[in-house]
Amino acid sequence: MTEPSKKRVLSGIQPSGNLTIGNYLGALLHWVEDQDLYENYFCVVDLHAITLPQDPQELRQKTREVSALYMAAGLDPQKATIFIQSHIPAHAELAWILTCLSPLGWLNRMTQFKDKAAKQQADSVSAGLLNYPVLMAADILLYQAHGVPVGDDQRQHLELTRDLAQRFNHIYGETFVIPEALIPRAGARVMGLDDPLSKMSKSTAGDYHAVYLLDPPNAARKKIMRATTDSGREIRFSTLPEKAGVNNLLTIYQALTHDSNEAIEASFEGKGYGDLKKAVAEVVIAALEPLQRRYHQLLDEEGYLEQVLADGAERAATLAEKTLKEVKDRVGFLAPAHRWPVNRDC
Ligand code: TYM
Repeated sequence: MTEPSKKRVLSGIQPSGNLTIGNYLGALLHWVEDQDLYENYFCVVDLHAITLPQDPQELRQKTREVSALYMAAGLDPQKATIFIQSHIPAHAELAWILTCLSPLGWLNRMTQFKDKAAKQQADSVSAGLLNYPVLMAADILLYQAHGVPVGDDQRQHLELTRDLAQRFNHIYGETFVIPEALIPRAGARVMGLDDPLSKMSKSTAGDYHAVYLLDPPNAARKKIMRATTDSGREIRFSTLPEKAGVNNLLTIYQALTHDSNEAIEASFEGKGYGDLKKAVAEVVIAALEPLQRRYHQLLDEEGYLEQVLADGAERAATLAEKTLKEVKDRVGFLAPAHRWPVNRDC
Protein backbone atom coordinates (compact mmCIF):
# COMPACT_ATOMS: atom_id res chain seq x y z
CA MET A 1 0.00 0.00 0.00
CA THR A 2 2.70 2.51 0.97
CA GLU A 3 4.84 3.24 -2.05
CA PRO A 4 7.51 5.74 -1.08
CA SER A 5 8.14 6.68 -4.70
CA LYS A 6 4.66 8.19 -4.94
CA LYS A 7 3.89 11.63 -3.63
CA ARG A 8 1.25 11.82 -0.93
CA VAL A 9 -2.05 13.68 -1.17
CA LEU A 10 -4.57 14.48 1.53
CA SER A 11 -7.97 16.08 1.31
CA GLY A 12 -11.31 16.16 3.08
CA ILE A 13 -14.96 17.16 2.90
CA GLN A 14 -17.17 18.37 5.75
CA PRO A 15 -20.19 16.18 6.60
CA SER A 16 -22.31 19.29 6.95
CA GLY A 17 -25.12 18.93 4.45
CA ASN A 18 -25.71 17.20 1.15
CA LEU A 19 -22.71 16.94 -1.15
CA THR A 20 -23.17 18.88 -4.38
CA ILE A 21 -21.77 18.46 -7.88
CA GLY A 22 -19.47 21.35 -6.84
CA ASN A 23 -17.82 19.10 -4.25
CA TYR A 24 -17.66 16.35 -6.86
CA LEU A 25 -16.20 18.37 -9.74
CA GLY A 26 -13.90 20.49 -7.59
CA ALA A 27 -12.54 17.66 -5.43
CA LEU A 28 -13.89 14.11 -5.33
CA LEU A 29 -13.70 13.36 -9.06
CA HIS A 30 -10.00 14.27 -9.12
CA TRP A 31 -9.22 12.21 -6.03
CA VAL A 32 -10.69 9.24 -7.88
CA GLU A 33 -9.11 9.96 -11.27
CA ASP A 34 -5.64 10.40 -9.77
CA GLN A 35 -5.67 7.70 -7.10
CA ASP A 36 -3.08 5.60 -8.96
CA LEU A 37 -0.66 8.52 -9.16
CA TYR A 38 -0.43 9.20 -5.42
CA GLU A 39 -0.37 7.72 -1.97
CA ASN A 40 -3.85 8.81 -0.88
CA TYR A 41 -5.34 10.01 2.41
CA PHE A 42 -8.94 11.21 2.44
CA CYS A 43 -10.81 12.12 5.59
CA VAL A 44 -14.32 13.17 6.48
CA VAL A 45 -13.71 16.33 8.48
CA ASP A 46 -16.29 16.18 11.25
CA LEU A 47 -14.25 18.42 13.57
CA HIS A 48 -14.53 21.12 10.93
CA ALA A 49 -18.28 20.58 10.61
CA ILE A 50 -18.90 21.64 14.22
CA THR A 51 -17.44 25.10 13.61
CA LEU A 52 -21.10 25.79 12.78
CA PRO A 53 -23.97 24.33 14.83
CA GLN A 54 -24.85 20.70 13.91
CA ASP A 55 -27.57 18.36 15.07
CA PRO A 56 -25.72 15.37 16.66
CA GLN A 57 -27.89 12.68 15.06
CA GLU A 58 -27.62 14.29 11.67
CA LEU A 59 -23.87 14.79 11.97
CA ARG A 60 -23.40 11.07 12.65
CA GLN A 61 -25.60 10.14 9.72
CA LYS A 62 -23.91 12.59 7.33
CA THR A 63 -20.48 11.36 8.40
CA ARG A 64 -21.43 7.81 7.31
CA GLU A 65 -23.04 9.18 4.14
CA VAL A 66 -19.99 11.19 3.09
CA SER A 67 -17.61 8.28 3.78
CA ALA A 68 -19.82 6.01 1.68
CA LEU A 69 -19.92 8.63 -1.09
CA TYR A 70 -16.11 8.67 -1.20
CA MET A 71 -16.19 5.00 -2.18
CA ALA A 72 -19.32 5.29 -4.30
CA ALA A 73 -17.55 7.96 -6.35
CA GLY A 74 -14.80 5.43 -7.01
CA LEU A 75 -12.16 5.68 -4.28
CA ASP A 76 -10.73 2.22 -3.73
CA PRO A 77 -9.94 1.52 -0.05
CA GLN A 78 -7.02 -0.64 -1.23
CA LYS A 79 -5.48 2.45 -2.80
CA ALA A 80 -6.74 5.19 -0.49
CA THR A 81 -6.78 5.50 3.28
CA ILE A 82 -10.31 6.67 4.07
CA PHE A 83 -10.94 7.81 7.62
CA ILE A 84 -12.88 10.07 9.96
CA GLN A 85 -10.94 13.08 11.25
CA SER A 86 -12.22 12.82 14.85
CA HIS A 87 -11.00 9.19 15.06
CA ILE A 88 -7.45 10.53 15.08
CA PRO A 89 -6.88 12.71 18.15
CA ALA A 90 -3.59 13.97 16.70
CA HIS A 91 -5.52 16.41 14.45
CA ALA A 92 -6.85 18.39 17.41
CA GLU A 93 -3.52 18.21 19.22
CA LEU A 94 -1.48 19.53 16.31
CA ALA A 95 -4.15 22.16 15.64
CA TRP A 96 -3.61 23.50 19.17
CA ILE A 97 0.15 23.71 18.71
CA LEU A 98 -0.31 25.50 15.37
CA THR A 99 -2.94 27.80 16.89
CA CYS A 100 -0.26 29.07 19.22
CA LEU A 101 1.85 29.98 16.17
CA SER A 102 -1.00 31.67 14.27
CA PRO A 103 -1.10 35.46 14.39
CA LEU A 104 -4.70 36.65 14.76
CA GLY A 105 -4.18 38.95 11.78
CA TRP A 106 -3.61 35.96 9.48
CA LEU A 107 -6.85 34.33 10.61
CA ASN A 108 -8.93 37.50 10.51
CA ARG A 109 -7.93 37.96 6.87
CA MET A 110 -9.41 34.64 5.69
CA THR A 111 -12.26 35.41 3.30
CA GLN A 112 -14.20 32.23 4.17
CA PHE A 113 -14.11 33.23 7.83
CA LYS A 114 -15.32 36.73 6.99
CA ASP A 115 -18.12 35.37 4.77
CA LYS A 116 -19.31 32.79 7.28
CA ALA A 117 -18.99 35.17 10.24
CA ALA A 118 -20.98 37.83 8.37
CA LYS A 119 -23.91 35.40 8.14
CA GLN A 120 -24.08 35.11 11.95
CA GLN A 121 -24.72 37.49 14.82
CA ALA A 122 -21.37 38.98 15.80
CA ASP A 123 -21.49 37.63 19.37
CA SER A 124 -22.30 34.07 18.28
CA VAL A 125 -19.29 33.60 15.95
CA SER A 126 -17.18 30.87 17.56
CA ALA A 127 -13.43 30.85 18.03
CA GLY A 128 -13.64 27.49 16.22
CA LEU A 129 -14.76 29.25 13.05
CA LEU A 130 -11.77 31.58 13.26
CA ASN A 131 -9.44 28.62 13.87
CA TYR A 132 -10.95 26.51 11.09
CA PRO A 133 -7.98 26.98 8.72
CA VAL A 134 -5.48 26.09 11.47
CA LEU A 135 -7.22 22.74 11.97
CA MET A 136 -7.10 22.28 8.21
CA ALA A 137 -3.37 22.99 8.25
CA ALA A 138 -3.00 20.35 10.98
CA ASP A 139 -4.88 17.80 8.81
CA ILE A 140 -2.49 18.36 5.95
CA LEU A 141 0.80 18.73 7.83
CA LEU A 142 0.26 15.67 10.06
CA TYR A 143 0.43 13.44 6.98
CA GLN A 144 3.33 15.33 5.39
CA ALA A 145 1.18 15.67 2.26
CA HIS A 146 2.85 17.04 -0.86
CA GLY A 147 -0.42 17.81 -2.61
CA VAL A 148 -3.90 18.85 -1.54
CA PRO A 149 -6.56 18.34 -4.22
CA VAL A 150 -9.27 20.94 -3.55
CA GLY A 151 -11.55 23.43 -5.27
CA ASP A 152 -10.58 27.02 -5.89
CA ASP A 153 -12.23 28.30 -2.68
CA GLN A 154 -9.51 26.56 -0.61
CA ARG A 155 -6.59 28.41 -2.20
CA GLN A 156 -6.25 30.90 0.64
CA HIS A 157 -6.43 28.16 3.29
CA LEU A 158 -3.59 26.36 1.51
CA GLU A 159 -1.51 29.51 1.53
CA LEU A 160 -2.04 29.78 5.28
CA THR A 161 -1.07 26.11 5.68
CA ARG A 162 2.18 26.76 3.81
CA ASP A 163 2.87 29.87 5.90
CA LEU A 164 2.29 27.95 9.13
CA ALA A 165 4.49 25.05 8.01
CA GLN A 166 7.28 27.47 7.08
CA ARG A 167 6.91 29.31 10.35
CA PHE A 168 7.13 26.09 12.36
CA ASN A 169 10.11 24.84 10.32
CA HIS A 170 11.84 28.19 10.79
CA ILE A 171 11.37 28.25 14.57
CA TYR A 172 11.85 24.56 15.38
CA GLY A 173 13.80 23.14 12.43
CA GLU A 174 12.73 21.26 9.28
CA THR A 175 9.70 19.21 10.28
CA PHE A 176 6.91 19.64 7.75
CA VAL A 177 6.66 19.10 4.00
CA ILE A 178 5.40 22.34 2.40
CA PRO A 179 2.23 21.25 0.57
CA GLU A 180 0.86 22.47 -2.74
CA ALA A 181 -2.76 23.04 -3.72
CA LEU A 182 -3.86 20.82 -6.62
CA ILE A 183 -6.71 22.73 -8.22
CA PRO A 184 -8.44 21.33 -11.32
CA ARG A 185 -8.51 23.25 -14.56
CA ALA A 186 -12.25 22.73 -15.09
CA GLY A 187 -14.77 22.56 -12.27
CA ALA A 188 -12.67 24.27 -9.60
CA ARG A 189 -15.46 26.75 -8.93
CA VAL A 190 -18.94 25.54 -9.81
CA MET A 191 -21.48 28.32 -9.35
CA GLY A 192 -25.06 28.19 -8.06
CA LEU A 193 -27.55 27.18 -10.76
CA ASP A 194 -30.03 29.77 -9.47
CA ASP A 195 -27.38 32.45 -8.96
CA PRO A 196 -24.30 31.96 -11.13
CA LEU A 197 -22.47 34.82 -9.41
CA SER A 198 -22.24 32.92 -6.12
CA LYS A 199 -20.48 29.61 -5.46
CA MET A 200 -22.58 26.44 -5.38
CA SER A 201 -22.63 25.42 -1.74
CA LYS A 202 -24.11 22.60 0.32
CA SER A 203 -25.19 25.14 2.92
CA THR A 204 -27.06 27.52 0.59
CA ALA A 205 -30.84 27.17 0.68
CA GLY A 206 -33.01 27.14 -2.46
CA ASP A 207 -34.66 24.28 -4.32
CA TYR A 208 -32.88 25.13 -7.57
CA HIS A 209 -29.46 26.15 -6.21
CA ALA A 210 -27.50 22.90 -6.43
CA VAL A 211 -27.59 19.39 -7.83
CA TYR A 212 -26.85 17.00 -4.97
CA LEU A 213 -24.98 13.76 -5.52
CA LEU A 214 -27.94 11.76 -4.26
CA ASP A 215 -30.58 13.65 -6.28
CA PRO A 216 -32.77 11.33 -8.38
CA PRO A 217 -32.18 11.87 -12.15
CA ASN A 218 -35.45 13.74 -12.61
CA ALA A 219 -34.64 16.22 -9.85
CA ALA A 220 -31.16 16.81 -11.27
CA ARG A 221 -32.58 17.35 -14.76
CA LYS A 222 -35.26 19.75 -13.52
CA LYS A 223 -32.71 21.89 -11.66
CA ILE A 224 -30.37 22.09 -14.64
CA MET A 225 -33.21 22.92 -17.05
CA ARG A 226 -34.19 25.80 -14.75
CA ALA A 227 -30.64 27.15 -14.39
CA THR A 228 -30.33 30.92 -14.70
CA THR A 229 -28.84 32.03 -18.05
CA ASP A 230 -29.27 35.34 -19.93
CA SER A 231 -31.34 36.78 -22.71
CA GLY A 232 -28.67 36.20 -25.39
CA ARG A 233 -28.02 33.15 -27.58
CA GLU A 234 -24.26 32.75 -27.64
CA ILE A 235 -22.88 29.51 -26.19
CA ARG A 236 -19.27 30.46 -25.40
CA PHE A 237 -16.94 30.28 -22.42
CA SER A 238 -16.82 33.80 -20.99
CA THR A 239 -15.68 35.69 -17.92
CA LEU A 240 -18.33 38.39 -18.34
CA PRO A 241 -20.66 38.51 -15.31
CA GLU A 242 -23.75 38.59 -17.53
CA LYS A 243 -22.63 35.29 -19.19
CA ALA A 244 -21.88 33.60 -15.86
CA GLY A 245 -24.84 31.21 -16.10
CA VAL A 246 -23.90 29.87 -19.54
CA ASN A 247 -20.24 29.76 -18.58
CA ASN A 248 -21.11 27.71 -15.50
CA LEU A 249 -23.09 25.18 -17.55
CA LEU A 250 -20.23 24.90 -20.05
CA THR A 251 -17.76 24.41 -17.19
CA ILE A 252 -19.82 21.61 -15.64
CA TYR A 253 -20.04 19.99 -19.07
CA GLN A 254 -16.28 20.35 -19.59
CA ALA A 255 -15.39 18.95 -16.15
CA LEU A 256 -17.31 15.78 -16.99
CA THR A 257 -16.41 15.36 -20.67
CA HIS A 258 -12.81 16.64 -20.49
CA ASP A 259 -13.29 18.20 -23.95
CA SER A 260 -11.47 21.39 -24.93
CA ASN A 261 -13.17 24.82 -24.98
CA GLU A 262 -13.01 24.87 -28.78
CA ALA A 263 -14.51 21.40 -29.22
CA ILE A 264 -17.35 22.19 -26.81
CA GLU A 265 -18.14 25.57 -28.36
CA ALA A 266 -18.10 23.97 -31.82
CA SER A 267 -20.48 21.22 -30.73
CA PHE A 268 -23.04 23.82 -29.58
CA GLU A 269 -22.68 26.02 -32.67
CA GLY A 270 -26.12 27.06 -33.87
CA LYS A 271 -27.85 25.48 -30.87
CA GLY A 272 -29.87 27.16 -28.11
CA TYR A 273 -29.61 27.30 -24.31
CA GLY A 274 -32.23 24.55 -24.05
CA ASP A 275 -29.93 22.18 -25.98
CA LEU A 276 -27.00 23.12 -23.75
CA LYS A 277 -29.02 22.43 -20.60
CA LYS A 278 -30.20 19.06 -21.96
CA ALA A 279 -26.62 18.07 -22.75
CA VAL A 280 -25.40 19.13 -19.31
CA ALA A 281 -28.23 17.23 -17.62
CA GLU A 282 -27.30 14.11 -19.59
CA VAL A 283 -23.62 14.10 -18.59
CA VAL A 284 -24.44 14.92 -14.97
CA ILE A 285 -27.01 12.12 -14.74
CA ALA A 286 -24.62 9.69 -16.45
CA ALA A 287 -22.04 10.46 -13.74
CA LEU A 288 -24.51 10.27 -10.85
CA GLU A 289 -26.31 7.05 -11.76
CA PRO A 290 -23.43 4.60 -11.18
CA LEU A 291 -22.34 6.56 -8.11
CA GLN A 292 -25.80 6.26 -6.58
CA ARG A 293 -26.01 2.56 -7.43
CA ARG A 294 -22.70 1.88 -5.67
CA TYR A 295 -23.74 4.05 -2.74
CA HIS A 296 -26.85 1.97 -2.04
CA GLN A 297 -24.97 -1.33 -2.56
CA LEU A 298 -22.35 -0.18 -0.08
CA LEU A 299 -24.82 0.71 2.61
CA ASP A 300 -26.58 -2.64 2.14
CA GLU A 301 -23.35 -4.49 2.88
CA GLU A 302 -23.55 -4.68 6.65
CA GLY A 303 -20.35 -3.74 8.45
CA TYR A 304 -18.36 -3.00 5.28
CA LEU A 305 -18.19 0.77 5.73
CA GLU A 306 -17.26 0.39 9.42
CA GLN A 307 -14.46 -2.00 8.48
CA VAL A 308 -13.05 0.38 5.85
CA LEU A 309 -13.13 3.25 8.35
CA ALA A 310 -11.51 1.16 11.09
CA ASP A 311 -8.69 0.08 8.74
CA GLY A 312 -8.35 3.67 7.54
CA ALA A 313 -8.09 5.03 11.08
CA GLU A 314 -5.42 2.50 11.93
CA ARG A 315 -3.30 3.42 8.92
CA ALA A 316 -3.85 7.15 9.38
CA ALA A 317 -3.01 6.99 13.09
CA THR A 318 0.35 5.37 12.40
CA LEU A 319 1.46 8.23 10.21
CA ALA A 320 -0.20 11.01 12.23
CA GLU A 321 1.26 9.86 15.53
CA LYS A 322 4.75 9.70 14.07
CA THR A 323 4.57 13.35 12.99
CA LEU A 324 2.93 14.48 16.22
CA LYS A 325 5.60 12.80 18.31
CA GLU A 326 8.30 14.65 16.39
CA VAL A 327 6.43 17.95 16.71
CA LYS A 328 5.96 17.57 20.47
CA ASP A 329 9.60 16.76 20.87
CA ARG A 330 10.67 19.82 18.86
CA VAL A 331 8.31 22.10 20.78
CA GLY A 332 9.84 20.92 24.04
CA PHE A 333 7.14 18.77 25.61
CA LEU A 334 8.49 16.25 28.07
CA ALA A 335 8.05 12.74 26.64
CA PRO A 336 5.65 10.71 28.81
CA ALA A 337 7.20 7.93 30.90
CA HIS A 338 3.80 6.29 31.43
CA ARG A 339 1.81 4.06 29.13
CA TRP A 340 -1.67 5.21 28.18
CA PRO A 341 -4.24 5.11 29.79
CA VAL A 342 -3.10 6.53 33.09
CA ASN A 343 -5.29 5.92 36.17
CA ARG A 344 -7.82 3.87 34.28
CA ASP A 345 -9.84 3.27 37.47
CA CYS A 346 -10.34 6.92 38.36
P1 TYM B 1 -16.00 21.58 2.02
O1 TYM B 1 -16.73 20.45 2.61
O2 TYM B 1 -16.60 22.94 2.10
O3 TYM B 1 -15.66 21.32 0.50
C1 TYM B 1 -15.10 20.10 0.10
C2 TYM B 1 -14.37 20.26 -1.22
O4 TYM B 1 -15.28 20.66 -2.25
C3 TYM B 1 -14.75 21.81 -2.91
N1 TYM B 1 -15.89 22.64 -3.33
C4 TYM B 1 -16.09 23.08 -4.58
N2 TYM B 1 -15.39 22.91 -5.71
C5 TYM B 1 -15.87 23.49 -6.83
N3 TYM B 1 -17.01 24.23 -6.87
C6 TYM B 1 -17.75 24.42 -5.76
N4 TYM B 1 -18.88 25.11 -5.80
C7 TYM B 1 -17.28 23.82 -4.53
N5 TYM B 1 -17.77 23.80 -3.28
C8 TYM B 1 -16.90 23.08 -2.55
C9 TYM B 1 -13.89 22.50 -1.88
O5 TYM B 1 -12.95 23.35 -2.49
C10 TYM B 1 -13.27 21.32 -1.18
O6 TYM B 1 -12.16 20.83 -1.90
N6 TYM B 1 -11.99 23.27 4.18
C11 TYM B 1 -12.33 22.12 3.35
C12 TYM B 1 -12.34 20.82 4.12
C13 TYM B 1 -11.02 20.42 4.69
C14 TYM B 1 -9.85 20.07 3.96
C15 TYM B 1 -8.86 19.71 4.93
C16 TYM B 1 -9.55 20.03 2.59
C17 TYM B 1 -10.72 20.29 6.01
N7 TYM B 1 -9.43 19.85 6.14
C18 TYM B 1 -7.61 19.31 4.55
C19 TYM B 1 -8.26 19.62 2.23
C20 TYM B 1 -7.31 19.27 3.19
C21 TYM B 1 -13.67 22.42 2.68
O7 TYM B 1 -13.84 23.37 2.06
O8 TYM B 1 -14.61 21.54 2.79
